Amino acid sequence: MAIVGAGPSGVLLSQLLHRAGVDCIVLERHTRDYVERRIRAGLLEWTTVELLQQAGVGERMMREGLVHEGILMAFDGRVHRIDLARLSGRRVLVYGQTEIQHDLDEVATGRVVWGAGEVRIHGIDTPRPQVTYERDGATQTIDCEFIAGCDGYHGICRASIPAGRITEYERVYPFGWLGILADVPPVNEELIYVNHPRGFALCSMRSRTRSRYYVQCPLEDRVEDWPDERIWEELAARLPATVAARLVTGPSIEKSIAPLRSFVVEPMRFGRLFLAGDAAHTVPPTGAKGLNLAAADVRVLSEVLIEYYHEGSERRLDEYSQRALARVWKATRFSWWLTTLMHRFSDDALARKLQLAELEYLAQSEAASKAVAENYSGLPF
Ligand code: FAD
Ligand code: PHB
Repeated sequence: MAIVGAGPSGVLLSQLLHRAGVDCIVLERHTRDYVERRIRAGLLEWTTVELLQQAGVGERMMREGLVHEGILMAFDGRVHRIDLARLSGRRVLVYGQTEIQHDLDEVATGRVVWGAGEVRIHGIDTPRPQVTYERDGATQTIDCEFIAGCDGYHGICRASIPAGRITEYERVYPFGWLGILADVPPVNEELIYVNHPRGFALCSMRSRTRSRYYVQCPLEDRVEDWPDERIWEELAARLPATVAARLVTGPSIEKSIAPLRSFVVEPMRFGRLFLAGDAAHTVPPTGAKGLNLAAADVRVLSEVLIEYYHEGSERRLDEYSQRALARVWKATRFSWWLTTLMHRFSDDALARKLQLAELEYLAQSEAASKAVAENYSGLPF
């Protein structure tokens, strides 16, 4: 197996295959240090937690991760708690993607080629595909049986599929998320998702002493437009007054702006190439689904590949795309819905009233809150 991309999906796949005795190599264009510093996801569904344990990287995660049983939704001066544990029977874990990446990289040492240049895939519609890359000025070639495209939204694997053989579904949202990471205690024990006339805000965390906050911002904005003080002021203005009064501010360790997009490709396989994670689908981060979906793909893909290597049957390989997509579309729907409910889209007064009506309904209806809890904590397999 050749795996392109050493983000969480690529390294996790290699680890699960390696444990089952399948020979694989991962090619990553960036350095390990660069990949481990990218601040991204923070919230894991329990199925993701279990998969990481199964991969043998659960020990530090269970020691340092924070178990959460609920989330808060703030709107119109009110706060509604979704009791995930009671309504869905499931909890979630706060543990940063940077930590998962580090834990995976530690066990995958020797299997990942960091800093591989000009990675290209060849012969994906033949039984003997190849991957080439540049290292120390020389071109290296890997002969393999299958290729896993785990190279993210901007990767080369999906782009190597001939035109017309896959269908892409895409929506780009007219705003971004400005994120700030700071070594200050989180403003609240549980995450708070905020719908405010000034725009969406999210209070998250990485630990009891490290906070991660986001505010919706115009797509054209750049990080330089947002000195720390401006972010803290904007965040405080969007939080309910009682919460804002508790906000502890401090210097940022990291700041970034992320665009929001819903994207799905069908099918997730072409010939000997399997796509997994962000290479096959991207969701806006509102539902905290991106990394969890990547893990869900890897779970199914590792299962069918291991079965193929142990029993020689290709039948289950053919089921990969369909099985993965069943979960992908549900998470895509939930992420789109929560994004639509919580963000400011325009000056449309009717749209705002409709959001508030839906949030009020959510706060009054156990059934509506249960639907959120089931989706947010992760649908069962
Ligand atoms: P990536 O992490 O994108 O990894 C792909 C890898 O492939 C990269 O290392 C890249 O360098 C490499 N690569 C690309 N092209 C090439 C090439 N040509 N050759 C070699 N290597 C290549 N998800 C959640 O579940 N919960 C959250 O709370 C959450 N919050 C988020 C917050 C933000 C601000 C953002 C931006 C994302 C968030 N996500 C969240 C989404 C999550 O981070 C992604 O879905 C996840 O990183 C996908 O993993 P991946 O391995 O598929 O892709
Ligand atoms: C994060 O902590 O980065 C985070 C948490 C929940 C989300 C998105 C991002 O929905």
